[in-house]
Amino acid sequence: MRNPRDFLKPMAIGAPEPLTEIPFPPSRMIHFLDFSNEKMLAKVPQIAPTVDILLGNLEDAVPVDRKEAARAGLIKVGRDIDLGGTQLWTRINSLESPWVLDDLTQVVGEIGHKLDVVMVPKVEGPWDIHYVDRLLAQLEAKAGVTKPILIHAILETAQGVANLEEIACASPRIQGMSFGPADLAASRRMKTTRVGGGHPGYQSISDPVNTEDFTEGRQRFQQDPWHYSIARMVDACTSVGALPFYGPFGDIKDVVACEVQFRAAFLLGCVGAWSLHPAQIDIAKKVFSPDPDEVAFARKVIEAIPDGRGVHMIDGKMQDDATWKQCKVMVDLAEMLASRDPEMAKLYGMES
Ligand code: GLV
Ligand code: MG
Repeated sequence: MRNPRDFLKPMAIGAPEPLTEIPFPPSRMIHFLDFSNEKMLAKVPQIAPTVDILLGNLEDAVPVDRKEAARAGLIKVGRDIDLGGTQLWTRINSLESPWVLDDLTQVVGEIGHKLDVVMVPKVEGPWDIHYVDRLLAQLEAKAGVTKPILIHAILETAQGVANLEEIACASPRIQGMSFGPADLAASRRMKTTRVGGGHPGYQSISDPVNTEDFTEGRQRFQQDPWHYSIARMVDACTSVGALPFYGPFGDIKDVVACEVQFRAAFLLGCVGAWSLHPAQIDIAKKVFSPDPDEVAFARKVIEAIPDGRGVHMIDGKMQDDATWKQCKVMVDLAEMLASRDPEMAKLYGMES
């Protein structure tokens, strides 16, 4: 049993008060960079204004002999580079690894006041969040950090997915979640070597038209093997006011499939996706910003039904209290993006 009144108290003396609402600034792409790479580091001032979230990756994809350099690079970015309105996140090493304690102590100690979110990989249950929660509070208190650093859980084991709702409720620091489809596929013993996306073997098939020849005239469609998990994550996150994200899409050249996957996630409720390559930044920006025509229609509904009540016909479509709320979701998102991004404000006709 936990006293509910304790939930919003700092977990260490001198740590900042937990937030009651998760902030929702533009979060269309979490752009992954390895700051152990000097060339990447040099490009940060140009890249930062083009992305909503810049993430210094410390975990997988950073070679063991560059773990410390990646951490030092991240600290340099936080300390020396003005990122404007772009959020700064990190993905720490997993909790059983030999690097994670130094990741957290050094990064929070040095740039805790600049860090918005810590992505914790391979979260298996609420106990992992409790550990990071208390440790962050102690480190924030020590470093005099005044704004709580939030936690983004990556679900990439079957157990993590099974405990999704408990993870979402584990701490007021839970900012959101995404899937790590590569680790998750391995953990579940799925038979795919891809990072996210569909698979030609995962299909549905129409009924036979000829029972003498079962191959004749059958239509087949590729299905999305991630659909169920993403829908569960969206419910777990949104039920506690946290933000769900689509994870990585590994086939960098297949920008078409990337866009389709991102859009399916957007329609289900995700607010953004990881971008692993500059080519994916624009895809995420396009997909996770609502379509201007849909926004225009949603505004029309809201203007036509100012109190959001009753039943109305607009452009031949039935509108009532519920559709009004759907329109509000669309317009609120467009307004939030327009307030931060003049390009979007122009697209939506929302210039002030
Ligand atoms: C990402 O971390 C993945 O495992 O897909
Ligand atoms: Mg992973």
